[in-house]
Amino acid sequence: MSNILFFLVNVERMSKHQVLVTGGAGYIGSHACLQLLKEGFEVVVIDNLTNSSKISLQRVEELVDRRLVFVEEDIRNEKEVEKIIRFHNIGSVIHFAGLKAVGESVEYPLEYYENNVGGALSLFKAMKNCGIKNLIFSSSATVYGIPEKSPITENSSLSAVNPYGSTKLSIEKIIQDIVNSDNQWRSAILRYFNPVGAHPSGKIGEDPKDIPNNLMPYITQVAMRKLEKLSVYGDDYDTPDGTGVRDYIHVMDLVDGHIAALHYLLNQPPKNNVIVNLGTGIGCSVLELIKTFEKINNIEVPYEIAERRAGDVASCYADASYAYELLNWSAKRDISQMCKDSFEWQTKNPNGFE
Ligand SMILES: NC(=O)c1ccc[n+]([C@@H]2O[C@H](COP(=O)([O-])OP(=O)(O)OC[C@H]3O[C@@H](n4cnc5c(N)ncnc54)[C@H](O)[C@@H]3O)[C@@H](O)[C@H]2O)c1
Repeated sequence: MSNILFFLVNVERMSKHQVLVTGGAGYIGSHACLQLLKEGFEVVVIDNLTNSSKISLQRVEELVDRRLVFVEEDIRNEKEVEKIIRFHNIGSVIHFAGLKAVGESVEYPLEYYENNVGGALSLFKAMKNCGIKNLIFSSSATVYGIPEKSPITENSSLSAVNPYGSTKLSIEKIIQDIVNSDNQWRSAILRYFNPVGAHPSGKIGEDPKDIPNNLMPYITQVAMRKLEKLSVYGDDYDTPDGTGVRDYIHVMDLVDGHIAALHYLLNQPPKNNVIVNLGTGIGCSVLELIKTFEKINNIEVPYEIAERRAGDVASCYADASYAYELLNWSAKRDISQMCKDSFEWQTKNPNGFE
């Protein structure tokens, strides 16, 4: 086949490729839907809307001027998921659906195992029954537990220090066992560091239902005076300014990493499981993040220094070199961009999607 013909066949194949996005109405899922549609994929979303609003998907459609299919459904409903996969002729699955609050997982471990691990099992069984064996899974740097040192490579030791982390580790293991048992599967386990930011339009973004668990939405709500002030937990760590260092990654870069992983998988022979860190590889301290936010948005973020929190580590950032080597992907957006886009979303949507 000539190169041009091969290219055209490939473009044709990609443009008709139907991707099932579980949890697609959520923060990262909605940004992924946007980029998938932009790339020419057809998108079908399953979400039970426990932590999201379908308005996010309407906004995605407006932004990209293309339609997607949304089905309000729980992934634990295996038979329904199977019907959706067959009806829409799904080719690949990106699995975002899950509960994600560490503190809540300590309080409600059964609900977390039931939803995250139970949900993944139902989904994978439905995929298997339909012969659909291309999978991308949202894992997390939380699987590295309390890392001894950074940067963290994919080969660093793994441990779960809370039920949420255990669900991610369990699902990773299930995926590896499935791929080992059946040579038709292709999977990519993507371990995210700290996703922040929003689409630059300010139309979609992170919409926490209660008091935010993560730093950036907390900062944006303090900046909007919805919350009084931010607590910075510990300023006596062994880091340049004493506050904790993390690897913040812009959500648009993160979802581009998924697109790169999808292209990679579709061009690989089966029986392939890859595990990849998605981070910038750059550590940023809490104070650095606050100062950058204040400067780029020209607004003050009141904060106080509080006691260290149990279980927090001084530094945690990725070795992101494998993602570049394997997927030819690296994060492009810097901390200023992350702060700017996060605040743009918050100011345009003071009450989220409500
Ligand atoms: N945001 C982060 O900081 C972060 C970091 C690492 C990994 N992750 C993982 O990435 C994924 C997406 O995270 P997010 O930040 O977009 O969270 P999110 O809560 O915004 O999105 C998750 C979506 O899944 C849906 N959902 C949950 N359980 C479901 C079920 N049983 N059936 C159908 N839908 C269900 C929710 O309604 C929500 O729309 C999650 O798996 C999360 O654990 C997130």
